[in-house]
Amino acid sequence: MSSIDTATGCDAPEEISKERVHDIFSAIAKKYERFNAISSFGAYRIWLAELVQRSPVTSESRVLDLAGGTGDVSFAIARAKHPAHIQCTDLVSEMLDVARDHYRRGRANDTTIDFEVVDAQNIPYPDNSYDVVTVAYGIRNMPDRKRALFEMLRVLKPGGTLVCLEFSTPPNPVWRSLYGFYLKHLIPFWGGLITGDRKGFVYLSQSIKAFPRQEALARMFEEVGFERVEWTNCTGGIAAVHAARKPRF
Ligand SMILES: C[S@@+](CC[C@H](N)C(=O)[O-])C[C@H]1O[C@@H](n2cnc3c(N)ncnc32)[C@H](O)[C@@H]1O
Repeated sequence: MSSIDTATGCDAPEEISKERVHDIFSAIAKKYERFNAISSFGAYRIWLAELVQRSPVTSESRVLDLAGGTGDVSFAIARAKHPAHIQCTDLVSEMLDVARDHYRRGRANDTTIDFEVVDAQNIPYPDNSYDVVTVAYGIRNMPDRKRALFEMLRVLKPGGTLVCLEFSTPPNPVWRSLYGFYLKHLIPFWGGLITGDRKGFVYLSQSIKAFPRQEALARMFEEVGFERVEWTNCTGGIAAVHAARKPRF
């Protein structure tokens, strides 16, 4: 079996993680952004800026944002790089409803963004159709990560780039244990206080702990066929931005 329980990293049927993710994000959609800002002490903005900077987007680019949630990545890329088109997708329609609302209020400036419910493990778009694929805090929640990565590779044009922002593991042991304490005790507390759903934030802590380290994630990218895989640690490795290229031939 290639699917896992994303809370533990152990083999499990795909439905367990898929249903849990659906329940969590449909319930917290309207409060998601407030939680993000408070729990990361605003650092998520710096990490997002790193993703945007690492994304080789031009005014001609077609961009696919997977697990796009309430649209943070899509709007940041739209405002900074003005690509030809962004397809902002997510598994959970309630998250995309918030994104659509921001779009109607002009958050993308003049860039056209379309929104669609899509499971990143089964992308309904043709081969070789995007210049850049982005995924922020999404792949950790996917029970069949290899399949998701194969799908990302498939829809990228030859020479196109995948940029992935995800929580990671600080290499420094002192920083790692401080962060471990914050994850285990404070994240469920903050999450419960802000959204009223402590359970979802216990899951957040567990899934971060079970997620592969920077090197292992990079290897996974290479195993499905990406090349030139590199990453940048953010805030001492609490998060990392991985970038990888689809071979030209
Ligand atoms: C932590 S949020 C991140 C949202 C957004 N990328 C951001 O940076 O704020 C994780 C998102 O991943 C989505 N997600 C989880 N599993 C998914 C899947 N298999 N396919 C597409 N989206 C998925 C969830 O619905 C949720 O909106």
